[in-house]
Amino acid sequence: IRSILGRPNGGAGLAGQKVQISGWVKKGREQGKGTFAFLEVNDGSCAANLQVKVDASASDLSKLVTTGTSLTIDSCLKIPPQGKATKQKIELSAEKVIDVGTVDQHGKTPYPIPKTKLTLEYLRDHTNFRARTTTMAAVTRIRHKICLAAHVFCDKHDICYIHTPIITTSDCEGAGEMFQVTTLINQSDKLETGLPRKHGKIDYSQDFFARQAYLTVSGQLHAETYACSMGDVYTFGPTFQAEKSHTSRHLAEFWMVEVELAFAGVEEAMNCCLDDMELMKNVDEACIHRLQMVALTSFERVTHTKAITLLEEAVAKGKKFENQVERRMDLASEHERHLTEVLYKKPVIVYNYPKEIKAFYMRLNDDGETVAAFDVLVPKVGELIGGSQREERMDVLMKRMEEKGLPIKEYEWYIDLRRHGTVKHSGFGLGLERMLLFATGMDNIRDVIPFPRYPGRADL
Ligand code: 4AD
Ligand code: MG
Repeated sequence: IRSILGRPNGGAGLAGQKVQISGWVKKGREQGKGTFAFLEVNDGSCAANLQVKVDASASDLSKLVTTGTSLTIDSCLKIPPQGKATKQKIELSAEKVIDVGTVDQHGKTPYPIPKTKLTLEYLRDHTNFRARTTTMAAVTRIRHKICLAAHVFCDKHDICYIHTPIITTSDCEGAGEMFQVTTLINQSDKLETGLPRKHGKIDYSQDFFARQAYLTVSGQLHAETYACSMGDVYTFGPTFQAEKSHTSRHLAEFWMVEVELAFAGVEEAMNCCLDDMELMKNVDEACIHRLQMVALTSFERVTHTKAITLLEEAVAKGKKFENQVERRMDLASEHERHLTEVLYKKPVIVYNYPKEIKAFYMRLNDDGETVAAFDVLVPKVGELIGGSQREERMDVLMKRMEEKGLPIKEYEWYIDLRRHGTVKHSGFGLGLERMLLFATGMDNIRDVIPFPRYPGRADL
């Protein structure tokens, strides 16, 4: 349908051509006392529907007109008669109905997408049907384009795609908010597993990975391993956070583009993020307006110290925050929004954070108090990207890990990178769903991922 309606003049030049289309009825109405029907058909290729006229001789019209019906039709493209309500320049006249999948309207699960608009909250509980809404389909197509744009961008800049593991024993952020991996196979004599047995019993819950394993919170440490031998790399995959955050900006399973640049300082990493936004302006047409705005705006850059001062000044002028402003605190969402929406009215990069509120791998600045970390904050969403220069000095890194109480032994492989040919390097992670919130203007992060995972929700 996109390839028809997307042509110049809405596809009018295709009149007379025969096509077979497959799709789903969005809306249908019988007319002419049941002698024919008009169907608005969508095939997922674009938001627009194509109007199809079907004569009663071709099919049982009462079944065809039900929203949700699937069909395959041989038809001919025609210019609709002048003066009709439809704005379409072309419509289909059905010649043969090849296949129909009818909708059960009276069964156990009546089709839950009635003509009246359902709320996004309601649809979240019907994830399987949610895909059929115009909104979710549009978001999903934009999601696809943004993923593709991220890959194209990295390829263009010779940044090599690597796959980092999902199952790992390393806690990248050192925050202890990881999902544990266990197996269901406690006693193989209780379950028909088909796996080899030793003395009739295997206890995989302890043995499978030799030790406790987790779902990754970030592929960064593994990406660093490759950046420190291959140069610039990126990873792009699902990451998991076992944090009980019931917010509109947090998911338990989210996707992250993580870029790791060798021989690069924090400045280059920050600039690379901006290029990334620049690229996004090629993503898609209308909805990308917001991205274009960002790509064309210069980002404000402020140190964490300056950001706090600005927030303190706001408080002094009467601004009320729920979270108190303190010198060495991490910014809360309301603070991020105040900076981007009220003070600067554009994206803001906050950098040089106090070391105690940031991860162990971030490079200590010469002041001994702050680290070369940065967050890119954007209006409406808050933090979109988190990045830093990585600590390449082994002694400093180990001291920081000790301060944070991290088990050095577990990170030996990571520390090794500093033992053998250590190099200045930097990177950042961009949350795909946050990017989508920003690009689409959707309000809740649960509505920009096909099957959201959050506290209390893992089914379907
Ligand atoms: O700032 P974060 O936690 O950084 C890291 O994980 C680094 N290891 C990344 C790196 O440098 N390679 O997360 C990066 C971004 C955030 O800015 C945010 O956009 C997104 O990932 N993010 C989440 N998105 C949805 N739900 C969550 N729970 C998220 N946590 C982080
Ligand atoms: Mg962060």
